[in-house]
Amino acid sequence: MTTAPKLRNPVFCALDTPDLGIATSWAAKLADTVGGVKLGLEFFNAQGPKGVSEVMRASGLPLFLDLKFHDIPNTVSGAVKSVVPLKPFMINVHAIGGQAMMEAAARASRDAAETYMVDRPLLIGVTVLTSMDESDLNETGIVGAVFDQVRRLAELAKISGLDGVVCSPHEAEILRRDLGPNFKLITPGVRPAWAAANDQKRVMTPHDAVAAGADYVVIGRPITAAPDQAAAAKRIVMELAA
Ligand code: C5P
Repeated sequence: MTTAPKLRNPVFCALDTPDLGIATSWAAKLADTVGGVKLGLEFFNAQGPKGVSEVMRASGLPLFLDLKFHDIPNTVSGAVKSVVPLKPFMINVHAIGGQAMMEAAARASRDAAETYMVDRPLLIGVTVLTSMDESDLNETGIVGAVFDQVRRLAELAKISGLDGVVCSPHEAEILRRDLGPNFKLITPGVRPAWAAANDQKRVMTPHDAVAAGADYVVIGRPITAAPDQAAAAKRIVMELAA
């Protein structure tokens, strides 16, 4: 099976809520504007696979299922096989789990897509969480600059057969240059100039993130916390096209 088709636009809205009613209402309101929606651990741990399917039904949009698997290869392989039938457009694992784990995940996504006769989801590696700075990283025993670790993990993800990585928009330009045009770059930490930064420390506008090489931008609160979610999403998409 091949991967899913091109999206309407690169914006994935993060539906960060544990509440099924809220998530489905956001999803329905955004159905005609954003390129896709993202559900993460907060929603999945509260609502499970059934909740995921309901949100997908409400929006009809491609889903980034952001569960960031990180375990021994056999367990990650099983986790990937368990979510492929939900038909996500994109799933992810922590690249720090290593080459054997990422290869197992890649094999599992291919095998499960064949078994269930669905499109293979894009398999993405999380590099360094954007909430971590150099001193946080050093405390875990990883010495050196954050970007060196991001680049190391992105290269490892690529040779392990992953389709791309999650990174900061500030890292996108160099990763795009080093890893080639087909390796997907997904960037959170994106804020329109008119929105609050919230707890994101180093932000970039959606337009600049895409210009720097991001394939998909993940945007949560500037849309979900807006009084009119559809209008906020539309404004972002129009600014991207300008
Ligand atoms: O509301 P906001 O736009 O900050 O949401 C960003 C989304 O991207 C959240 O769901 C967050 O968990 C996710 N994310 C992030 N930084 C990462 C990885 C994921 O902000 N490094």
